[in-house]
Amino acid sequence: MAKITYITHDGEPHDVEAEAGATVMSAAVRSMVPGIDAECGGACACATCHVYVDEAWQEVVGGPSPMEEDMLDFAMEVRAGSRLSCQIKVTDALDGLVVRVPEEQA
Ligand code: FES
Repeated sequence: MAKITYITHDGEPHDVEAEAGATVMSAAVRSMVPGIDAECGGACACATCHVYVDEAWQEVVGGPSPMEEDMLDFAMEVRAGSRLSCQIKVTDALDGLVVRVPEEQA
C-alpha cells in the first residue's frame, strides 16, 4: 500500500490509499479524485490523466517512456514533472507520493 496525495487545482489535498500494482490513475479514479478524466481507461492513448509529480518525487517516479512522451504532446501545459498517471505503477516505494492535478485535461 502507498498513500498518495493528489492536490487538485484549487489546492485541495485528496489522500488515497493505493494498492501496489494499481496505477496512480486507477487509484485516483476509484477514489473519485476530481480532475483525472482517464478517457482511454489507462491505455496511454488520451492524455486526460495528466498530473504533475511533486519535485521531491520526480527522481523516484522517473520519467515518461517514449510512448508516453509522445502522448504528453496532447496534454495541456506540460512542464517538468508532467506524467500520465496511468503510466505510473504504484509500489510501496511510492508511499507518500504527491502529485498535482492540472486545472484542465486535454
Ligand atoms: Fe488515457 Fe492515461 S488514461 S492516457
